[in-house]
Amino acid sequence: MQERHSIHGTWANRWIFILAATGSAVGLGNIWKFPYITGENGGGAFVLVYLVCILLVGVPIMMGEALIGRRARCNPVNAMKVTASESGLSTGWQAIGWMAALAGFLIFSFYSVVAGWVLNYIAGMVRGDYIDMGREQAAAQFELLLADPKLMLAWHSVFVVLVMLVVVGGVNKGLERATRIMMPALFALLALLLGYSFTTGHFTQGLEFLFHFAPEDLTWDSVLVALGHSFFTLSLGMGAILAYGSYMPKSASIGGTVMTIAFLDTLVALAAGMAIFPIVFANELDPGAGPGLMFITLPVAFGQMPGGQLFGFLFFLLVGVAAWTSAISLMEPATAWLVERLKLERLPACLILGAAGWAMGVLSLGSFNVLADFKLLGMTTFDFLDFVTANIMLPLGGLFLAIYVGWFMQRTAIMDELAMKNRLHFNLWYGVVRFVAPVAVAIIFALNLYQKLA
Ligand code: PFF
Ligand code: NA
Repeated sequence: MQERHSIHGTWANRWIFILAATGSAVGLGNIWKFPYITGENGGGAFVLVYLVCILLVGVPIMMGEALIGRRARCNPVNAMKVTASESGLSTGWQAIGWMAALAGFLIFSFYSVVAGWVLNYIAGMVRGDYIDMGREQAAAQFELLLADPKLMLAWHSVFVVLVMLVVVGGVNKGLERATRIMMPALFALLALLLGYSFTTGHFTQGLEFLFHFAPEDLTWDSVLVALGHSFFTLSLGMGAILAYGSYMPKSASIGGTVMTIAFLDTLVALAAGMAIFPIVFANELDPGAGPGLMFITLPVAFGQMPGGQLFGFLFFLLVGVAAWTSAISLMEPATAWLVERLKLERLPACLILGAAGWAMGVLSLGSFNVLADFKLLGMTTFDFLDFVTANIMLPLGGLFLAIYVGWFMQRTAIMDELAMKNRLHFNLWYGVVRFVAPVAVAIIFALNLYQKLA
């Protein structure tokens, strides 16, 4: 087959691809969600299940996404069409691409609302708002933010513009340049915070909490949460990895790069836990505080500690950068689609998507105040979007993708793209994609849905 090229460009080398995809993967999921769901699900046992999900389901499906993208060299919708026709299949398979692009768009809208909160906390840390603040007061502060649609709207808008500024530059001048600056900054900030948390005197207590294995803590529910999170954290099922894969140099090995990305994402999640829990314990706060862990508990903790203002600022800066690089990858697939499909320039494509995502986000943001009474299936818009994407669209997208790659896509095309020299490795991966991943996702998806709706 003659090799295709993306009209959007190609990453300079495999490390740029690894870092860009890691930028997509590392986000609020690692620093906000992972620590609090670990806290809620009792620690070590949950972490173990999560690691198994990443290895057995996340990595194989991520390889599937990357290989479809690189094979087709175009946006997720077209990529499904191109690889399906190459395999002699119906172009109806592009429905998977549609669902992925839609999920990405919906996630973008509420992700940028939460990212807006993060920006607000960066400002708060700079002002020193949290110095010597008590827990109730910090909780009240957070409530105040949620009750203030104007303030949220301002930060939400700032964040959407930041994302557009990068995406409009395209693969090399936008995404790649941002990656080169932001990813080293992200790792440096994380290392600084780990060092800080080491000085709290409660570091081992944090480790103990994360890695202490108590099987009696394991419930079905925590398994469901772990699987759902393994999709979200690796940016699967939304076309992000597929789009980034379409800019991947032909010479890079898909298995090796994907494993590096999953490893880095996991490392950051664990490091974030190791940075956060000692700070929580040092201030005798509750690790199981739920979503408020980052927005209420941590500011209180920072406010009581020596150097807390500086490190609190660095912490929220880290979260902001991580959310930024993730949101970029949420906008890129749809942008690529508009550019290819409607032959638009990047600028109008970004303006259209930015405006649409922004407007959709306004509905989510209103969920906490003026639109609080507007319910879909008994949920606010924010909760509804979170529920529909994380619990329905992502698992379904992953399931169909695994079935497509494992059972339908032409095997020779797959082998050509993966270029694995080791036969055993290939068979292992293929077996997991055909059997283990779809069965695991289907079971957990059904149970999850049953539980939520029953
Ligand atoms: N992986 C990101 C996180 O863990 O925060 C979230 C995300 C980004 C999901 C981009 C999907 C995506 F396309
Ligand atoms: Na992540």
